[in-house]
Amino acid sequence: MVKKKTCVFISGQGSNLKNLILRSRDKSFPIKISLIISSNNNAKGINYAKKFNIPYHIVNAKHRNPDNKILKNLKKFNISFICLAGYMKIISNKIVNKFEKKIINIHPSLLPKFKGLNTYTKVLKNCEKKTGCTVHYVNNKLDDGDIIIKKIFYINSNDNENTLKKKTQTMEYKAYPEAIIKIFRNR
Ligand code: GRF
Repeated sequence: MVKKKTCVFISGQGSNLKNLILRSRDKSFPIKISLIISSNNNAKGINYAKKFNIPYHIVNAKHRNPDNKILKNLKKFNISFICLAGYMKIISNKIVNKFEKKIINIHPSLLPKFKGLNTYTKVLKNCEKKTGCTVHYVNNKLDDGDIIIKKIFYINSNDNENTLKKKTQTMEYKAYPEAIIKIFRNR
């Protein structure tokens, strides 16, 4: 099996990145993480790029034309698939159109509910009975593309933002690899 050369976009902790790197070491996992793009210098996730010897680039607002810099790198590393993992920037139309149905994202809610930021606060404020995570294709609108996988759990009366985050992220580490396997099983 030829693995798809994949770029992971991050902005922060990179725990999903780490999980994908570890999963992609498995021979039968359909992608290889060939490049990491971070939107800032301080993203802790960059340490995983260093640790696992994966090329990385920081593309931030200081760059005059960040899209071109990103596209140039995607081309250089022959990237054919993109995973957003806690990437806090909007992906421009230019990139979305070029990689149609080849960019996926993970979001910590049951989409279409609670798009955007501060998800756990919104979930609790809305007195939801259940929550979870969603892996979806990226289109030109925020947290909006076709859904690939959702994972659900029930909220306890003593849950708070921290416990929800912990439970949601534990689910994400299963959902993201499963979604990737599902995509390539059908291609
Ligand atoms: C994840 O919970 C993901 O759903 C959201 O941002 C978080 C990133 O966490 N989009 P990490 O950087 O992968 O640890």
